[in-house]
Amino acid sequence: MIQAFIDKVFCGDALEILRKLPDNSIDMGVTSPPYNKGENKKGWLVNKVVYKGATDNLPEEQYQKIQIEVLNELYRVIKPGGSFFYNHKIRWERGRMLHPMDWLRKTKWVIRQEIIWDRMIAANLRGWRFWQVDERIYWLYKPKDNHLIGEELKSKHALLTSIWRFAPEQNNPHPAPFPIELPARIIYSIMDEKKGGIVIDPYCGSGTTLVAAKILGQHYIGIDLSKDYVAYSIQRLEKYKEEIPKVEGELSKHVVRKTFKERKERGEFVGRYRKKSVELSSSSLFEE
Ligand SMILES: C[S@@+](CC[C@H](N)C(=O)[O-])C[C@H]1O[C@@H](n2cnc3c(N)ncnc32)[C@H](O)[C@@H]1O
Repeated sequence: MIQAFIDKVFCGDALEILRKLPDNSIDMGVTSPPYNKGENKKGWLVNKVVYKGATDNLPEEQYQKIQIEVLNELYRVIKPGGSFFYNHKIRWERGRMLHPMDWLRKTKWVIRQEIIWDRMIAANLRGWRFWQVDERIYWLYKPKDNHLIGEELKSKHALLTSIWRFAPEQNNPHPAPFPIELPARIIYSIMDEKKGGIVIDPYCGSGTTLVAAKILGQHYIGIDLSKDYVAYSIQRLEKYKEEIPKVEGELSKHVVRKTFKERKERGEFVGRYRKKSVELSSSSLFEE
């Protein structure tokens, strides 16, 4: 029974704990796994990200194999029609590009969208490549009744576009937290005004996804290997009210100020390529 797992933060290995959860029982999830990076070479702005209680330096092949297993377990536990958002980034190993798509395509998920997260800061200021300020967020979808596309987002969420701009979180003792606005955007876009759903984060770190879920009226399930981060997440969940203003700030962006039709009628900006925009107007995406 899923009831035994909700509103809890488990200390342990993501894969082992996921295996205990029942099939088709969770509405959605958000996570940022460890990236398997040993970024302590010349030019890195930040010291190596070191997690308490976890290694982040596996042979790449083994790392990808584990990620595929974790993602497939998540596929099993998420309900048909449910979504999982997976934050990762492009990395390089001795000049060879390692792209999250390399392993995402080997999972059971339908890859619904690739979102660019502009973090507005680069971790490495050398000139081997243009400074990498982006990470990626993959919207993974579990089809329902063999329907691969799923339901439409409401316009107020869809108009936030596929490029997201959030600066990194500053006030958090965890070495790699995401800002709470990020899971808040995801959870609110998918659940909209529905409350009481279940949101999972199998690498929950400081509990950011869990706090966002709680503020948005959802249940949560968190997992992390480090007992320190689990303890911190629990403390943070107790004080969740302090983070309501940040989540409300994000929600205030989910508004349709003018419909696409209104913009067109007033001759206002409707997109750079007019022809394309006219085609879009018939798709109802920007019309409510
Ligand atoms: C990128 S961080 C997640 C940060 C989180 N999004 C936040 O906002 O705080 C990845 C987390 O995965 C945890 N971790 C590493 N290996 C794990 C494993 N095998 N099972 C569960 N958690 C693990 C680390 O302890 C770390 O907290």
